[in-house]
Amino acid sequence: MLLIENLKVEVEGRQVLKGVNLHVKAGETHVLFGPNGAGKSTLFFAIMGYSKYKITDGKIYFKEKDITYLPTHERAKLGIGIALQRPPALKGIKLEQIGKLMNKTEEEILEKAEALRIKDMLNRDINLGFSGGEMKRSEVFQLMLQDPDLSLIDEPESGVDITNIDVIAKALRKILQKDMPILERKKSGIIITHTGFILEKLTADKGHLLIDGEIICSGNPMEIFNEIKLKGYTECLKCWKRN
Ligand SMILES: Nc1ncnc2c1ncn2[C@@H]1O[C@H](COP(=O)(O)OP(=O)(O)OP(=O)(O)O)[C@@H](O)[C@H]1O
Ligand SMILES: [Mg+2]
Repeated sequence: MLLIENLKVEVEGRQVLKGVNLHVKAGETHVLFGPNGAGKSTLFFAIMGYSKYKITDGKIYFKEKDITYLPTHERAKLGIGIALQRPPALKGIKLEQIGKLMNKTEEEILEKAEALRIKDMLNRDINLGFSGGEMKRSEVFQLMLQDPDLSLIDEPESGVDITNIDVIAKALRKILQKDMPILERKKSGIIITHTGFILEKLTADKGHLLIDGEIICSGNPMEIFNEIKLKGYTECLKCWKRN
């Protein structure tokens, strides 16, 4: 589904990603861990093709097509979607309009809005004045409408109350086809998380630890998360250097 080779990315003249390699197969969910400022969101922006994030080296392939320099809307059309960590407010565009732009029926829009408990927000401008938790639900709602083959999900549970984490987890399970048998799953995803809450609610196939622009460790997501909790990122770095 997604193959990233030696990806180097510069933002405002500063090198943030220093050679990232990543392979996400169809049907797989990966989790990305790492300290603040490590470059996790930057990696998502680079996959999505935001122009501020300049690729200086490396390649991104999506479904075997080289998308390294493809514009963002083309990537979205090919089937990549993103739920942002800090989404912007879109004044003048109502949440329900985005569903209609994606050719969804009124019924579908309502059903998904109900699942994410944002029915009351459908006729409001996207994210304008939404609370932190409402914004997260609105992002997942839009992702659900787009139904991309690869979902990039940036801290879906951050700032979300306990009950609504369940609501979001349930929606993500649907987006990532978690209730289908493994061999039948076609959708892939990468989830960024600090809290690990989401890991309790949906199983991920692989975890990666990104520190200072490099993936220094990959493996079982729960094991990596527990190591981070137990020992902290500094010990992870020491272990990486030893090996
Ligand atoms: N537009 C920008 N201008 C200047 N610096 C930027 C810009 N975007 C990102 N950076 C810098 O790049 C580094 C990586 O940022 P990024 O948002 O990718 O971190 P992150 O791993 O997602 O962190 P967090 O866990 O806090 O969300 C940070 O030091 C950040 O300040
Ligand atoms: Mg981030």
